[in-house]
Amino acid sequence: MMETIRNMVQMRFPSKAANIGFARTAIALFASQLDFTLDELDEIKIAASEAVSNAVIHGYKGREGEITVICRLFDDVLEIVIRDQGQGITDVQKALEPAFTTEPEERMGLGLVFIKEYMDDLIIESAPGKGTCLTMTKAPMEARVCS
Ligand SMILES: Nc1ncnc2c1ncn2[C@@H]1O[C@H](COP(=O)(O)OP(=O)(O)OP(=O)(O)O)[C@@H](O)[C@H]1O
Ligand SMILES: [Mg+2]
Repeated sequence: MMETIRNMVQMRFPSKAANIGFARTAIALFASQLDFTLDELDEIKIAASEAVSNAVIHGYKGREGEITVICRLFDDVLEIVIRDQGQGITDVQKALEPAFTTEPEERMGLGLVFIKEYMDDLIIESAPGKGTCLTMTKAPMEARVCS
């Protein structure tokens, strides 16, 4: 089970495309308190921006709504929660399938696949009309020896 929370930040921002990059970098900076490699930090950045862009694009469909990001640091695990109160996902299992997208003209349907691949764990809670909440965790692969 998870240990004591060592640190946490919460961010709330409107679902504007400009905030995707902000959230990506802010989450990576928070994550860098743990001994992640640069490759692992890149994976966290990708997962973070895929989740926030999904909230902007699919959750709110260009309309303005609020996105909440919570980052928690445990002894050796990072947890990221990304939540919108948008339209929700009708079939979560289907949404997780590679190349499944509700916008086949524009999208590849790979965002959730990347998040699953790059994070250790992903939980999706979603209800049509209520919104979507992604909880993802990742721990550094190797504990680095400090000299
Ligand atoms: N926050 C969300 N709110 C509502 N629907 C979502 C949300 N996130 C994902 N979805 C649904 O799940 C589908 C799959 O998401 P995924 O990120 O894997 O692919 P995509 O966004 O369609 O394409 P890509 O991420 O490759 O641009 C989306 O097409 C959308 O229907
Ligand atoms: Mg996506």
